[in-house]
Amino acid sequence: MGGMLFSAEEISEKVKELGRRISEDYKGKKITAVGILKGSFVFMADLIRAIDTEVEVDFMEVSSYGNSTESSGNVMIRKDLDSSPAGKDILIVEDIIDTGNTLKYLRDTYLAGKNPASIKIVTMLDKPSRRTAGISPDYTGFSIDDLFVIGYGLDYAQKFRDLPYIAYLKEAE
Ligand code: IMP
Ligand code: MG
Repeated sequence: MGGMLFSAEEISEKVKELGRRISEDYKGKKITAVGILKGSFVFMADLIRAIDTEVEVDFMEVSSYGNSTESSGNVMIRKDLDSSPAGKDILIVEDIIDTGNTLKYLRDTYLAGKNPASIKIVTMLDKPSRRTAGISPDYTGFSIDDLFVIGYGLDYAQKFRDLPYIAYLKEAE
């Protein structure tokens, strides 16, 4: 069982709204948007075009050790930033926050140690009921229940990233 959660039109409206809020908060500053691969690349592409302050882009790819359905907090960096975050206003761009382990490590352990001017997090989706790590995004597109979602960059076994809408695959058991 599954179904549609957010249509392409609803996503587009939400991304514009996030872009307006971010543009206002960073007025006159250059944003270094750091997309977390692979899931964030579709959202990132839309979001940076909805922001009207200067934006530079970089990407990181991380994976967590241990079982594959739940991140463990032991994060491995598979692709690091191309340029140093020192002195920059970093905006981490995520597809979805689940336990929060990935971002907790990235923001508080990894990036915070490299002296950026600031670090904020924008996520398209948030599953607050699943949170185990003490982390909350600065900007959230949609908060959702504990569902496994796909589309708009999000995958199930590397499939469905290309769907223009967000759907859920099944009710969590
Ligand atoms: P966290 O460290 O538990 O917050 O894991 C977040 C990462 O798990 C996200 O960046 C996604 O890659 C993946 N993830 C979590 N929930 C889902 C989902 O419902 N669909 C697809 N990927 C998900
Ligand atoms: Mg991810």
